[in-house]
Amino acid sequence: MDQRTDQPSLTVIDNRTGKKYEIPIEDGTVRALDFRRIKVREDEFGMMLYDPAFTNTASCRSRITYIDGDKGILEYRGYPIEELAENSTYLETAYLLLNGELPHQGEFQDWVYQVTHHTFIHENVKNMIDSFRYDAHPMGILASTVAALSTFYPEAKNVMDPENRQRQAFRLIAKMPTLAAFSYRHSVGMPCVYPDNDLSYIGNFLNMMFRTTELKYTPDPVLEKALDVLFILHADHEQNCSTSAMRGVGSSHPDPYVSIAAATAALYGPLHGGANEAVLRMLRQIGNRQRVPEFVKNVKAGEGRLMGFGHRVYKSYDPRAKIIKRMADAVFEATGSNPLLEIALELERIALEEEYFVTRQLYPNVDFYSGLIYQAMGFPVDMFPVLFAIARTVGWLAQWEEMLRDPEQKIARPRQIYLGESKRAWVPRDKRVRA
Ligand code: ACO
Repeated sequence: MDQRTDQPSLTVIDNRTGKKYEIPIEDGTVRALDFRRIKVREDEFGMMLYDPAFTNTASCRSRITYIDGDKGILEYRGYPIEELAENSTYLETAYLLLNGELPHQGEFQDWVYQVTHHTFIHENVKNMIDSFRYDAHPMGILASTVAALSTFYPEAKNVMDPENRQRQAFRLIAKMPTLAAFSYRHSVGMPCVYPDNDLSYIGNFLNMMFRTTELKYTPDPVLEKALDVLFILHADHEQNCSTSAMRGVGSSHPDPYVSIAAATAALYGPLHGGANEAVLRMLRQIGNRQRVPEFVKNVKAGEGRLMGFGHRVYKSYDPRAKIIKRMADAVFEATGSNPLLEIALELERIALEEEYFVTRQLYPNVDFYSGLIYQAMGFPVDMFPVLFAIARTVGWLAQWEEMLRDPEQKIARPRQIYLGESKRAWVPRDKRVRA
């Protein structure tokens, strides 16, 4: 405690100079900028904090998503994920994330109307999709075309106008499924299916993905509900890699389309949005239930990882994985079981009993079962990160909105510790020698 101000503080003694500094503590955190006062000489830059990958650095104050990784708690705006998955819908959860409150009946109707009536994309965007190679990855198409929307809505650049931001949010939430489905249809050489405004958000997405010759597509209610829940589970996860990209790019105030494209690109990486695909590959490689003990033995010996297990934040069962596992039965009843499921169940059973996994607090994460469900629903593996991107769009937008309203936020600009050469004399090319 700082005796003079009664504020909790940290006392830092610089052993280089013997000087003592009182650093205020607020919300269990110290401000990095307070360390700048710590110097040996007056003309020095001052002390910085080094934190590659931001493993222990808070970049914002947020009121959107709360995670307690030790207890396995995930809440959106204070509502437990389990309750939202049980009682809410994806669009209602999207409203909650963006606006901070669950909508009243009238607010909800208006919200659904707005999202439903912004689903079409300009024909030129469709032509752009058609111009990609036949085997283009749908995630690459999605990132490119969402960036291209920037050129169709030039007014979106007025990012400090709240009404304008809301209009772009409607468009993005509404158009991401259309871009995603058109990208998929292109990759399988099928004609695009235009949005059907009579269907729910999820029902329409399934329609655009899978409709073939039916005059009117009717989604299977079990699959519609399951995908809705999966979208709720993926809607936000505080300051992860893609959200940090959204905030970082958005901090220089471009329109949200290019910022969402950057977030989509971050999600494309196998360390972020691609893990459920890796789970499927692993299960196929194991091949059958009998080979599970041998596979676990190899993992324990350091030969590869058990994909879909472990998490940087969750040190207990990922609450999203629990919900997905419960839902899997209903989905497999509608689709027929995924033969890889019994390998997954056996893998989980054995791993949870093994000391190696218990002592390292490795539990199934959201990706352990989601890929199995997506595959059973008929989504090809390439579409898994695309599904993630559609669901996460509202989380990115909510975080972007919060950043723009936060008076403390500025253009993101980390510091570095420079370790390179200094002040070298320029030498003409014919005189250069390499040691
Ligand atoms: N299988 C086997 N061992 C593991 C696993 C795993 N899946 N995950 C961690 N470990 C071990 C590590 O080898 C390490 O052991 P050691 O202490 O003997 O060296 C220890 O557990 C700690 O692991 P770290 O890599 O330090 O943990 P970190 O928090 O950096 O990694 C991560 C988290 C990347 C998720 C990791 O658990 C992993 O690679 N999991 C598999 C991939 C995966 O499922 N990713 C999806 C995450 S969810 C999402 O992004 C939506």
